[in-house]
Amino acid sequence: MVSPIEQRYIDLHPGSLERHAQARDIFPDGVTHDGRRMSPFPIYATHGIGPHKWDVDGNRIIDYWTGHGSMILGHSHPEVVAAVASQMGRGTHLSASSDLEIKWGQQVQQLIPSAEKVRFHSSGTEATMMAIRMARAYTGKSKVIKFVEHFHGWSDYLTVGSAGMGGIPEETKNTMIVLPPNDIGIVEKTIQDNPDVAAIILEPTGAHMGQIPVLPSFLGELRELTERTGVVLIFDEVVTGFRISKGGAQAYYGVTPDMTTMAKILGGGLPGGAVAGKADIINMIQARGDADFDQNRRIAHNGTFNANPLSAAAGTVALDLIMNTDVTETANAMGQRLKDGLNDLLTRMEVPGCASGIASLIFLRLGADHECDKGVCVMTPEQTAQAHNAHRDGQFVLSMLNNGVHATSRFIMSAAHREQDVDDTVDATERALTELRQSGLI
Ligand SMILES: Cc1ncc(COP(=O)(O)O)c(C=O)c1O
Repeated sequence: MVSPIEQRYIDLHPGSLERHAQARDIFPDGVTHDGRRMSPFPIYATHGIGPHKWDVDGNRIIDYWTGHGSMILGHSHPEVVAAVASQMGRGTHLSASSDLEIKWGQQVQQLIPSAEKVRFHSSGTEATMMAIRMARAYTGKSKVIKFVEHFHGWSDYLTVGSAGMGGIPEETKNTMIVLPPNDIGIVEKTIQDNPDVAAIILEPTGAHMGQIPVLPSFLGELRELTERTGVVLIFDEVVTGFRISKGGAQAYYGVTPDMTTMAKILGGGLPGGAVAGKADIINMIQARGDADFDQNRRIAHNGTFNANPLSAAAGTVALDLIMNTDVTETANAMGQRLKDGLNDLLTRMEVPGCASGIASLIFLRLGADHECDKGVCVMTPEQTAQAHNAHRDGQFVLSMLNNGVHATSRFIMSAAHREQDVDDTVDATERALTELRQSGLI
């Protein structure tokens, strides 16, 4: 049976409904990214400006997906548009090295504390795949520790432990060790029991962009343990890089890993990725002229669109703006305003839940009835289970879209969001929660 919220969604989005009917004949689930699967159907967008985007039905939407975290400048930032347009006219692939890639790499070195050397890729998945390959080549060991629910893209190795492991060979699975986060004792015991551990990789603010937080103290504990045991520590800063602070989570928490992976903001809204870190490790790509090393230990690395001119043009503008203007501070201030507004709303409406998060990544948890410090909000598995309600959350997303906001339980802020957008978002949330209450879901 179609709920009143779903019926309103269908009525407001006939163009998206029609397109989804076509798309289902082309793509699995009708979509091109698992994250865009949606019941009854996803929206189809036409364009975006600043914090807003428009769908094919002409609805203006305040956007908190923010290009899956890549658009910290907002949509169609004029300086990015100008740089990309200019580069289009100069050539999009010149099969040569470029001034742009030098500037882009230097910016990464200046901003990211661990970045002694850098290599560009086209996505975060490639960057994380390369990072663990480098750690394995450098240490001569094969096992990699990751943490429950931490997401590092869709490569065979790093999908292990998550849903959707079809097609991954057992041999590959056996090289990965998946541990619960925030328990240094378990990590230490695992390294003691497995002399073959090459690396530990994690999202430094926690799983799903920080939605299931890692305790800041855990980062320091991991640093101490990995230094002591010779295990390579990799921070996957694909989301947090250039966002949590200009220098990512590592600068924010003052913990410098051996290696860092980046993407999203790095590319200024175009595809781009990078792995950076200690020179000795990144140099596993560098030919030495030693036949044995070059044949057996060196990592071959090609990639048609590595550091491509369009991404480099957009990325250098984005990193310039992050380095020299108040992009980070503005996005953070909007995050704080939204978090405060949502928490006031929950209190006023007497809805169990909390809004938490740091910097410009804000999370709304409905149904959670616990003490929340509104920052790094760590819940017990029991509290998480108590708050879990997929149907309620699905209806919430639809109702928010009906009220002009595209968010999940996650709100990714940009520097283009204005106070009015945030206040309108809190009003939209009030309407959505009222509808959920009328449907008996909260
Ligand atoms: C922490 C993290 N690592 C890696 C990736 C994969 O990046 P990409 O989608 O660019 O391949 C993502 C994507 O959301 C991510 O959030």
